[in-house]
Amino acid sequence: MLAGKHILLIIGGGIAAFKSLDLIRRLAERGATVTPVLTRAGEEFVTPLSVSALAGQKLYRDLFDLGDEAEMGHIQLSRVADLVVVAPATADLMAKMAGGLANDLASTLLLATDTPVMIVPAMNVRMWEHAATQRNLATLRADGIAVVGPNEGGMACGEFGPGRMSEPLEIVAAIEVHLADGPLKGRRILVTSGPTHEPIDPVRYIANRSSGAQGTAIGRALASLGGEVVFITGPADVAPPDGVQVIKVQTALQMHDAVNAALPVDAGVFAAAVADWRVTSASDRKLKKSKDGLPTLEFAENPDILKTVSQMKEGRPKLVIGFAAETNDVVENATAKRLRKGCDWIVANDVSPATGIMGGSENSVILISDDGIESWPRMGKDQVAHQLAARIAKALA
Ligand code: CTP
Repeated sequence: MLAGKHILLIIGGGIAAFKSLDLIRRLAERGATVTPVLTRAGEEFVTPLSVSALAGQKLYRDLFDLGDEAEMGHIQLSRVADLVVVAPATADLMAKMAGGLANDLASTLLLATDTPVMIVPAMNVRMWEHAATQRNLATLRADGIAVVGPNEGGMACGEFGPGRMSEPLEIVAAIEVHLADGPLKGRRILVTSGPTHEPIDPVRYIANRSSGAQGTAIGRALASLGGEVVFITGPADVAPPDGVQVIKVQTALQMHDAVNAALPVDAGVFAAAVADWRVTSASDRKLKKSKDGLPTLEFAENPDILKTVSQMKEGRPKLVIGFAAETNDVVENATAKRLRKGCDWIVANDVSPATGIMGGSENSVILISDDGIESWPRMGKDQVAHQLAARIAKALA
């Protein structure tokens, strides 16, 4: 709940601004006070009256408004809230923020504020993918700004891809997590989850039975303790947790790149079932049956993401946690795996079919660290996640 919390909501000029009206309503329902700021471009998409009426608060629009300045100066306005949320954050607003420009009320508030800032990007897919926007995004992330979305999907401009603004309830969940006081507040934690799909041709791929349930539960548990979670997931059966930054990938190579882009982090939890091999030259055409015999697939080894991060010379996360899914000699194999990869902890489990763990709702894990070998009783994956998150919080304290 957000009772007693104060959000300064900056509404940028994009078609997604209409969702910000619903966002105001959802925040108010949960007890938050929303002070709205509407940019000039934003006024093209939503009316000042509707914004102000829904918020039940005075709306701020101008940098040089004598009345506003007498009541509450813009510096003071930038500091009244617990969180500044920019939704929609247009490419232009992101560029201004990354460059430190302050030529209107919104950009001035963003430069003057000393409160945490969260942006919710929304723009055309080409604008989102443009090198300039991606550069600005990296700068903003490095400046400690939280980023929610964007989602992938059809857009008002008729194109398809990432760039759609997150839905109001997703933004509310992210705000709740961000403002949650917990032992992981201020900690950035990466979680990999789900299987990877390694293409053979455009319609066939190699996969595994990971559902993503344990990784999702861990992401949710870390967020509930106040952590800023970057959740990198392959094509899982289970939906990713709310309130975290979700990066969807298909292949091990894409997961590897996404992990590199998400660094630095305080801790990494590598729960994904990453394919060890990929097909060397996946065909860009569907393979056909042939009289000449069966097709032969050649494999190349995928990069070991956990090992790469564990053995980083510079900027290694303080805590790196790997998973070992074994079908026999669980403790011996997992102990050797921990040393081989160089991670701090290994969460080992027996995934032989009789256990029903792979794809099931329960897990029975053995935590292996420098402190020894600890067998946890069989419990729900959510409980395993909470216990692990609490341990992580303790280790990072
Ligand atoms: N992992 C990874 N990148 C890979 C393969 C695995 O990050 N390319 C991570 C997994 O997320 C997990 C851990 O490494 O945390 C263990 O993966 P596993 O596949 O069980 O280990 P392997 O080294 O592949 O050993 P083996 O297959 O021989 O059991």
